[in-house]
Amino acid sequence: MASSWRLLVQGLTSLVFLCAHADEYVRPPPSPLVLTAHGKPASHPQQVHISIVGEKNMRISWVTDDRTRPSVVEYGTSPGKYTASATGDHTTYSYFLYKSGAIHHATIGPLEPSTTYYYQCGKAGDEFTLRTPPARLPVEFVVIGDLGQTGWTASTLSHIAGGGDYDMLLLPGDLSYADTQQPLWDTFGRLVQPLASARPWMVTEGNHEIETLPVVEFAPFVAYNARWRMPHEESGSASNLYYSFDAAGGAAHVVMLGSYADFGEGSPQRAWLERDLAGVDRRRTPWLLALLHAPWDNTNQAHQGEGERMRRAMESLLYEARVDVVFSGHVHAYERFTRIYDNEADSRGPMYITIGDGGNREGLALKFIKGHKSAHLSEFREASFGHGRLRIVNETTAVWTWHRNDDQFATVRDEVWLHSLAAGEPAAAAGGRPVDEL
Ligand SMILES: [Fe+2]
Repeated sequence: MASSWRLLVQGLTSLVFLCAHADEYVRPPPSPLVLTAHGKPASHPQQVHISIVGEKNMRISWVTDDRTRPSVVEYGTSPGKYTASATGDHTTYSYFLYKSGAIHHATIGPLEPSTTYYYQCGKAGDEFTLRTPPARLPVEFVVIGDLGQTGWTASTLSHIAGGGDYDMLLLPGDLSYADTQQPLWDTFGRLVQPLASARPWMVTEGNHEIETLPVVEFAPFVAYNARWRMPHEESGSASNLYYSFDAAGGAAHVVMLGSYADFGEGSPQRAWLERDLAGVDRRRTPWLLALLHAPWDNTNQAHQGEGERMRRAMESLLYEARVDVVFSGHVHAYERFTRIYDNEADSRGPMYITIGDGGNREGLALKFIKGHKSAHLSEFREASFGHGRLRIVNETTAVWTWHRNDDQFATVRDEVWLHSLAAGEPAAAAGGRPVDEL
């Protein structure tokens, strides 16, 4: 059964590669999929990942093939000594001939900040370790988009793991590239487990999460919503497709938008975003970040103009709120723009960063358009796989770095220091390290 899935996936991959030749840009040949096996009893937890829920709680999510296992997490601050437990619930879903295992979610806490906890899921299997984020600055985010599960993905994950510690991972869409092949959600969950069980993974959806199929499956986001439950209720959102959360005790507010949920005038997402941004006090929250999938600014040949409708609908809201940075994915390359509003450089607008270079099976988007109307706003662009890190140093200063996978060791290929827009009229973001930070 597994080999037939594999053949089907490889066939689809080849088809995508052939289709890519029909486009104007040519992607490199696919990297083989990395299909991570479970290899343990059906009662043992797998695909463990964690996400923050409010200021002091953490949601633990995992899957068991045995659907009778309890949705309980036991935890404590010493290995093997569990002083607390929390019971959640589980769900399952069906997709054509596929039936998922039990997908458990349990919320633990209240937890201490910057603290290591040891935990076991469902009273069986391995012990896992997590560290809670800090309650104040500094805080460091890893940002990766369009991850997939190829050799390139494995390279990105190894660079993240070996590139220094961090507090939380942000993913602006396109996770598993299961693309209706549901066992690929399971293999993806197992591939990312070493990282995703240890630090919170906060994700929003991409087009590869939609997974509707004529006749077979009409409902979108079935697997994504079941497996990657995010704290939308806690942020007043009625949909798992858009939500927000605070980090570093409220010093940073992160808005996760849905490129594939309605965003126009009168839509629930737009109404929610207006409410959410209105509730941000920039005196208490000097850093405001947003993530979405299809970029609003993009000089790559791939996916030109796909984010334009959303930009027209929502850009002014982010601009008026003085969002500091907008991260997107979708385009399989790295590109950093200056601060922009309405297609012009504007020192009060967000910096736009496309980071869709996590390593998926579709390969890189190699061609940037030299004469693109926004080319003068694009400050760094390169079609390589990699990941980014945003370290918010204090209330006024943050540093963004991009690390590409081509290098054997973690090497910073792009670096820019940012000044919070809440700190008054900013100096233009400048590359390089300020003298006083050396
Ligand atoms: Fe995408």
